[in-house]
Amino acid sequence: MKAAGAAAKRGTPAPGALAMSQAVRALHAVREDGVTAEEALLRLGSDAADLAATRAILSGSLRWYLRLAPLVDALLRPGQVLAPPLHPLLVVALHQLEYSRAPAPVTVNIAVDAARVLRQAAAAGLINALLRRFLAEHAALCARVERSEAAAVAHPRWLLREIRAVAGPAADAVIAANNESPPMSLRVNLAHGTREAYLDRCAAAGIAARSGLLPTTVVLDEAVDVGRLPGFALGVVSVQDAGAQHAAVLLDAQPGERVLDACAAPGGKTCHILERTPDLDLAALDVSPARLARVQQNLDRLGIAANLIAADLAAEDWWDARPFNRILLDAPCSATGVIRRHPDIKLLRRATDIAGFAATQQRLLRRCAQLLAPGGRLVYATCSILEAENEAVVGDFLAAHPGWSRAQEDMRLLPAPRAAGAGAVTDGFYYACLTNGGSGAR
Ligand SMILES: C[S@@+](CC[C@H](N)C(=O)[O-])C[C@H]1O[C@@H](n2cnc3c(N)ncnc32)[C@H](O)[C@@H]1O
Repeated sequence: MKAAGAAAKRGTPAPGALAMSQAVRALHAVREDGVTAEEALLRLGSDAADLAATRAILSGSLRWYLRLAPLVDALLRPGQVLAPPLHPLLVVALHQLEYSRAPAPVTVNIAVDAARVLRQAAAAGLINALLRRFLAEHAALCARVERSEAAAVAHPRWLLREIRAVAGPAADAVIAANNESPPMSLRVNLAHGTREAYLDRCAAAGIAARSGLLPTTVVLDEAVDVGRLPGFALGVVSVQDAGAQHAAVLLDAQPGERVLDACAAPGGKTCHILERTPDLDLAALDVSPARLARVQQNLDRLGIAANLIAADLAAEDWWDARPFNRILLDAPCSATGVIRRHPDIKLLRRATDIAGFAATQQRLLRRCAQLLAPGGRLVYATCSILEAENEAVVGDFLAAHPGWSRAQEDMRLLPAPRAAGAGAVTDGFYYACLTNGGSGAR
C-alpha cells in the first residue's frame, strides 16, 4: 500500500475520497452536535458533491457506528488521542471495509486521500497503518469487541432492553430489521387501477416488485429513483411503508365527513385518506410550515386538495369550534419503529428522552379529545415500538376520560426484515382506535 494517497499528493484525490470526507464531516456533526443525519447533510452546503454516495456512506456508518467505533478504539494505543476528524474517518473507512464490495486496498487508499481532503495530511501514514492493522488482525479484534452484545448488534444497551421487553422471541428479527437498508414500499392509488395492474407496469419497466402487506402495497426488490416509477408524477403511486398504510384504513373516513389530520406533514397519510375517500372536508395541520409545504407538494402531485393549517395543535386560535367526525393523531415520537430508515436514531435517542415524548403525546391526545364530535373516531398512531409511547399513553388517557373507549383492539406492528418476505415486510407502528361513544364510531 505504498501508493496510498499518491493521487492526492498530485492534487487529485482518489475517486470516492471526496464523498468519504463529506460523510466524515456529517458523521462528526451527528456525533458532536447531536444533529440529525438530514441536518448534517444540509450543513455540507451547496457545493457538496456526490451527495448520493455521501448519504449512502453516512447511513451505513451510522447504522453500524456502535460496532465500528469500539473497533476503532481497539486499534488505538491506551490514551492515544486523534485529531477530531480522524476518529469518524476511521469509522467510515471501517464501514467501507466491512460492508462495501470495494477491494480493501482501494478503500485504504481512498481513506488516506480523504484524510488529506480533511486537511489531515500529516495523519495519512497513521490512517494507512491503522487500517492495515485492522485488516491483519480482523478476527481477533472483532471477537474482542463483540463480547459486548451492544457492539455486536450495534444497538445501545437501553434500546436492546426495550426491544427484548416488547418483542420477546421476535427481538432478534427486530434487531436484524433495524440493521438492514430500508425496503422501498409503494402505495398504489386504487383510483388509477389495481395493484396487480401496477405490478405489470413495474415488470414492463424492468422494476422487480411484489405484493405487500395491504391490498395497496407493493414492495420493490431494490430501491429505485421515484422518477423511474411508472405513473409517479401523475399520482398513480406514492412511496409509503406498508405499516403506515394502515392509518387511513383504520381511520375509515366516510364521504362528506369533517376530518382532521392533526400532525400531517409531510402528508403521506393525508394523501392516503383522500385517495380512499376524495369527498372529505379534510384539515391537514402541522406545527412546521416548512414541512407543511411538503404536504402541498404531495397533494399537488396527486391532484387532490386539503385545508392546510400551520399551527400548534394545542393552541386555541386555529380551530373554528366545529368538531371533527374523525381525527388522525400521528404523534411525534421516538421513531424507534423506523430505525432502518433513520439509523441516526440509535445514536441520538437516550432512554431519558422517552418520558418527554410520552408527555407531549398525552398533551396532544387530550387536545384531540376536545375536537372530536360525539360518536367520532380518533386514531392515535406512532412509529414507536415502545410501550411508554403507545399502550401507556392510551391507558392513561382512557383512565382520565370516562366515556371514551377503544373502538377495536390496538394494532402493534414490529419492524419485519426483508427476509420475512414482501408480504410481511413493514416498519414498526402502533395504532389505537378510540371513540367517545355513540353509533358513528365503528
Ligand atoms: C410522525 S410526523 C407525522 C407524519 C405524517 N402524518 C405523515 O404520514 O406523513 C409528526 C409531525 O407532528 C408535527 N408536530 C409536532 N408537534 C406538533 C404540534 N404541537 N402541533 C402540530 N403538529 C406537531 C411535526 O412537525 C411532524 O411533522
